[in-house]
Amino acid sequence: MKEFGVDIWANNNFFIDDSELKLNFKSSPSILNITKEIRSSGARGPLLLRFPHLIKKQIKSLYSHFDAAIEENSYQGSFNAVFPLKVNQFPHAVEAITSSGEKYGYGLEAGSKAELILAMAKTPLGANITVNGFKDKEMITLGFIAAQSGHNITLTIEGINELETIINVANESSLKIPNIGIRVRLHSSGSGTWAKSGGMDAKFGLTATEIIQAIKLLKNASLIEKLSMIHFHIGSQMEDIAPIKKALREAGNIYAELRKMGAVSLSNINIGGGLAVEYDQHTHGKSRNYSIKEFSSSVVFLLGEIMDAKNVKHPNIFTESGRYIVASHAVLITPVLELFSQDYREELLSLKEINPPLINELIDLNKLLNNSNCIEYLHDALDHVESLLTLFDLGYIDLQDRSNGEILAHNIIKKALYLKSANPTDELEKLQVKLQERYLINASIFQSLPDYWGLNQHFPVMPLHHLNTTPHRASSLWDITCDSDGEIGFNPQKPLYLHDINLAKEEYFLGFFNVGAYQETLGMNHNLFTKPSEYTIEIDESSYYITNECESKSLIDILNSIGYKREEILDKLEEDLVKSNFITKKEKSDTLLKLKLFLKQNGYLRTTN
Ligand SMILES: Cc1ncc(COP(=O)(O)O)c(C=O)c1O
Repeated sequence: MKEFGVDIWANNNFFIDDSELKLNFKSSPSILNITKEIRSSGARGPLLLRFPHLIKKQIKSLYSHFDAAIEENSYQGSFNAVFPLKVNQFPHAVEAITSSGEKYGYGLEAGSKAELILAMAKTPLGANITVNGFKDKEMITLGFIAAQSGHNITLTIEGINELETIINVANESSLKIPNIGIRVRLHSSGSGTWAKSGGMDAKFGLTATEIIQAIKLLKNASLIEKLSMIHFHIGSQMEDIAPIKKALREAGNIYAELRKMGAVSLSNINIGGGLAVEYDQHTHGKSRNYSIKEFSSSVVFLLGEIMDAKNVKHPNIFTESGRYIVASHAVLITPVLELFSQDYREELLSLKEINPPLINELIDLNKLLNNSNCIEYLHDALDHVESLLTLFDLGYIDLQDRSNGEILAHNIIKKALYLKSANPTDELEKLQVKLQERYLINASIFQSLPDYWGLNQHFPVMPLHHLNTTPHRASSLWDITCDSDGEIGFNPQKPLYLHDINLAKEEYFLGFFNVGAYQETLGMNHNLFTKPSEYTIEIDESSYYITNECESKSLIDILNSIGYKREEILDKLEEDLVKSNFITKKEKSDTLLKLKLFLKQNGYLRTTN
């Protein structure tokens, strides 16, 4: 079904079969079946499903493409990668990363003290740890402790002061000295939403003058043989390959210069992250204009070319791609709680014995509408409803007539849009936008799709079922926060059409895809909606297995996590209830039990009725 662009964004990870979306792996389970099984044990609200096989696939893809490019170009250096923890620090994601990456020597990158502790605990000895971001003496000392503990760690300096602190710690202690990297401030900058990390005004990195100063400091402290890496990162989700190539040329030349300046142990060039993911679901090639094959070939070819021209040994290549590794592995499932135009359902019509003439005309139009007359009848209906509203304002018809008129007109428009949906005119498209359906989803956009809220980043979204019928309702999505920013509006450039479902009769589930990078930690507890319940799904040849269940926080735990004392809240609620006048003792104890049960549940809605 081309409406949802599965062939554009899904990278063959999902396919539509038998009206449902399925995983394209081993026993090919349906996501709807997994969702229903999880919900059968009482789970409500949004669900975050993790598919570790998709992390394994991406790690393999990264290594195999670079290894192939190295072989093809007779490149002399090796390929190495670390996963930047900022992209997803959650235990079941990190577990999948470290277990799938072990055979490649895949390491971890840390950008803060907490991430460094995590990297020290989770990186297998022998694999690499790189440390970026601003560091104080304590964080630098942690790096020394990691080296002393046997880790292959590189502290990348973001400024001269950090190098001075490294030299001080080295002089003050007998701990093993970690490898040192220099983040270089390139004049080349990236392109796209997250391109601020490169360019002369970037927040990070040493200028050419500071690099020369750093080399002098290292030589004077007899630590020049500890300088092993130069690093750059021009931004995440680099949409265009041209700036990446420009940055590689600049960094490659800096590397070659430093080797000539006596950086005898310099052997690694770390190209950071930035490898982009396809988020678009409407147009091929919108999110990025290159493939992993082109990316890896370009990096290897360009670095080889620069080093050969300068007669310098080929450096080992390091990457810190994060988004590329984990974006696809997580899917957010949101149940739909309500369709707002269902207030105009035909069964709500309450016609009188004698109706105003305009209502009778709308009844006929509704009954007789067909493919050949629908545009004319649609115009009549629009005209009649305008007249009915004027009659209401003047007091000539009552509220019941108005309600009947609105229901009939909505149905006529809906049927006409449906009949002409294959070839809508401009007028019909405008009507569709105006009369878009609002689907209330049991989720918080602030919590689960923060990059949509903050940066308007599109995430592929589609229903998990009904995929053998064409959806006709132009749709916008409302989340359950009390905030009008909690909405994904209908965008005619990236239209979302969903099915007209009667939720009284059946459930309807939407999936948001490629949400495994950045969204989980960036997500915020606005309105005190916390992280959705999460589940890891393992798939084999015959079935799937739901593991690692982590329930969304209960109401009382949410309050506790922002500093309220659990017992104080519980005691106060109980005290007030017990003091109040209940008719029977049983009613009092039942209400108390109910209250205690509510407090143990998460904050998402269970139903709307
Ligand atoms: C230093 C560094 N390395 C790697 C990354 C990961 O980038 P991406 O997720 O685009 O691969 C980032 C993120 O911005 C970063 O700042």
